[in-house]
Amino acid sequence: MGFATVRAALAGFVADATRGGRRAGRLQDVHYLIAQLSDTHVGGPHFENGHRLSLAVDAINAMTVQPDLVLVTGDLTHEGSAEQWSEFSDRMNGLRSAWQAIAGNHDRSIAELAGHRTLDAGSLRLVLLDSSRDEFTADDAAWLDSALSECGDRATLIAIHHPPFETGIWWMDCLGLAGRELFETVVRRHTQVVKVLSGHVHRPIQTQWGSCSLWVCPSTAVAIALDLDPQHDPAESAEPPAFSLHAFTGSTFVSYVVPVGAEAERSSIGARAPEFVAEMRALQQQRRRRGPAT
Ligand SMILES: [Fe+2]
Ligand SMILES: [Fe+2]
Repeated sequence: MGFATVRAALAGFVADATRGGRRAGRLQDVHYLIAQLSDTHVGGPHFENGHRLSLAVDAINAMTVQPDLVLVTGDLTHEGSAEQWSEFSDRMNGLRSAWQAIAGNHDRSIAELAGHRTLDAGSLRLVLLDSSRDEFTADDAAWLDSALSECGDRATLIAIHHPPFETGIWWMDCLGLAGRELFETVVRRHTQVVKVLSGHVHRPIQTQWGSCSLWVCPSTAVAIALDLDPQHDPAESAEPPAFSLHAFTGSTFVSYVVPVGAEAERSSIGARAPEFVAEMRALQQQRRRRGPAT
């Protein structure tokens, strides 16, 4: 599966993401499409958090091709109260697609989210971990090792709220996952794990362990400033709500960050430069005639 083929397959929903109205279907050559939301912090001090979650819900609903699953990687609520969990669920139930969620450190008291579990997702196996206690223990490692052994060689995706690696943002690393080395040891033992999705840091970050990529999703609520200087105080930055898209191609993922809301409003290049668009369409036709790159 070449990237050009995936990009062509995704072009439909990128182009039509804000229009909606067309019948949802499957993307050609994309086996499974996941929209990842994270750190929605409903009820938190940024009082528009609920509204910002709904902006992401609306953007996902408007996609021409709907995701097979919307996965939320923790800190769904700010304080884990029944009211905040209810508001989060109500807003998420407005999605056209099915959704699943794991707990973050702010969701410890939500009983419905407690514990680890596995799911089938098309040809993928999903392993959803509960790291809401900020640690990955020997018991967690034994459970994960057993769950991954049961997956055999089936491509597997793990979701865990805390990134299991140092991000370089010093104060978020101080609030990181205890036992992350143990997590890495287990995951590296199972080479069918193609991706680890997490949140917690409110900023898109990517790294790699061998053939396994690790992804941190931006927050819909508030962004943590990207600042690698340990002398600087903790800071947030004014950015639009954003979510991630992960297109599984059968062997790997192509992943995207999708900002939403007024600050991310689309504007057509064709309206101001129609000749450029005509040129692009001609190139597109040439590429189609040539077929996918090998
Ligand atoms: Fe968070
Ligand atoms: Fe968190």
